[in-house]
Amino acid sequence: SSLESFDFILFGGSGDLAMRKLLPALFYRHRDTSPNHGWRIIGTGRDALSRDQYLALVEQNCRKHVPTDDFTDAAWNAFAQCLDYTQLDANSEKDFALLADWLKDSGSRIRVFYLATAPGLFASICANLGNAGLVTPNSRVVVEKPLGRDLPSATRINEDVGKVFSEEQIFRIDHYLGKETVQNLIALRFGNVLFEPLWNRSWISDVQITIAETVGVEGRGEFYDSTGALRDMVQNHLLQLLCIVAMEPPVSLQPDAVRNEKLKVLCALRPFTDADVGTKTVRGQYRAGAIRNKPVAGYLEEEGIAPKSQTETFVAIKAELDNWRWAGVPFYLRTGKRMGERLAEIVVNFRGVPHPIFPNGGESGANRLVISLQPNEGLKLEVMAKLPGEGMQVQRISLDVAFAETYQMRQWDAYERLIMDVIRGKLTLFMRRDELDAAWSWLEPIMSAWDRQVTPMKFYPSGTWGPTAASALLMRESHAWHEEM
Ligand code: BG6
Repeated sequence: SSLESFDFILFGGSGDLAMRKLLPALFYRHRDTSPNHGWRIIGTGRDALSRDQYLALVEQNCRKHVPTDDFTDAAWNAFAQCLDYTQLDANSEKDFALLADWLKDSGSRIRVFYLATAPGLFASICANLGNAGLVTPNSRVVVEKPLGRDLPSATRINEDVGKVFSEEQIFRIDHYLGKETVQNLIALRFGNVLFEPLWNRSWISDVQITIAETVGVEGRGEFYDSTGALRDMVQNHLLQLLCIVAMEPPVSLQPDAVRNEKLKVLCALRPFTDADVGTKTVRGQYRAGAIRNKPVAGYLEEEGIAPKSQTETFVAIKAELDNWRWAGVPFYLRTGKRMGERLAEIVVNFRGVPHPIFPNGGESGANRLVISLQPNEGLKLEVMAKLPGEGMQVQRISLDVAFAETYQMRQWDAYERLIMDVIRGKLTLFMRRDELDAAWSWLEPIMSAWDRQVTPMKFYPSGTWGPTAASALLMRESHAWHEEM
């Protein structure tokens, strides 16, 4: 694919996200796109770095995150040519004048302002971009989460950004939507006739969405302790996945066609009362334990965590959608740090057959679709088949697709896909403001009840599937988490 030219201005250019994800993603896209001679990428940040020092830092990090076979000298040297750096203080008008100077004579080019900084800086960055006259019709801004910690603070951020950029120029990124399997779910649902007729309350008994991580807070204790799993993972990633599973067929893949359908799902989420929060949510915090036989510390022992912190590192929620398609179907959402495995998956459990005729029981007739995002991307459809030999015993077998085998090519990182969408101006996989607002509104009663300790904190040893209360949540409905079935 060809992409003539663009300017990419990376705020937080020497930060963790830039080094770990964004610059390696740009490296790959640069390597694999031609022509690419018109690409200009400038990192900005508070560190006083020369261009050479910045290049050295980027190279060192890209080497860490890109496999050696992919990181050839030729590819790196070509990429390095489009990189630059300028020291910039988000509050300094003078520094923005320097940026303006760097950007001069490129007024009609595509311009991406990527805000990979703390959200506290978004307002001044946007205001200064506006004042310096840097926001052209071909400009776009990318904002990274956390976009607020509740509805009022999210509204403030959206208003600050909205003073300078129009909604069509604002790309609110959720990197889960950039994962291949998530887009594949759209293909699966709307590119086949097989699933959609069954994709409703008549044939689906429950849906489970899990994002389990083995990592702990990874050196960002202070940030995490003021955030917690509900805001860090549920508000964005889990609810976005839920939207893709539950939305009505969009009339097209145009941004608003898809985003309208996602918004409807968020608006159909049944609001929680205090009593619901007490019975349908589980909040957990990890204690010491072992991950793959290696001992790890508990949350309260991690650096940057308040001594008696009440921040959750695990969440399980039974969500329900009040609409015709999904009435009565629980959507179980679950995420946690320091769990036994790194696993992200969507499990759709179908109902049993209406009339069992096989000797080994009716429960055997329940089909299951498992969509794996991590560690390996794939799809698994579980169906019943006859055990070979005598008799008519049936057994569950799975039709299994591992994308890495089907497509013998390197899997793109989510950021590669999303950054290119930004450059091309494709908003479909980015969150619209009203989606964000709806997600915060739904979480509000949960956050408020948790603040008042309506749901007591449950503890779990590192390396497990979370507090036992999470199993009990499903057991009450005669359901079970996928790994417990
Ligand atoms: C981020 C969260 O948005 O997603 C992190 O802030 C989390 O806490 C990460 O670890 C998980 O992303 P992935 O792609 O590694 O599953």
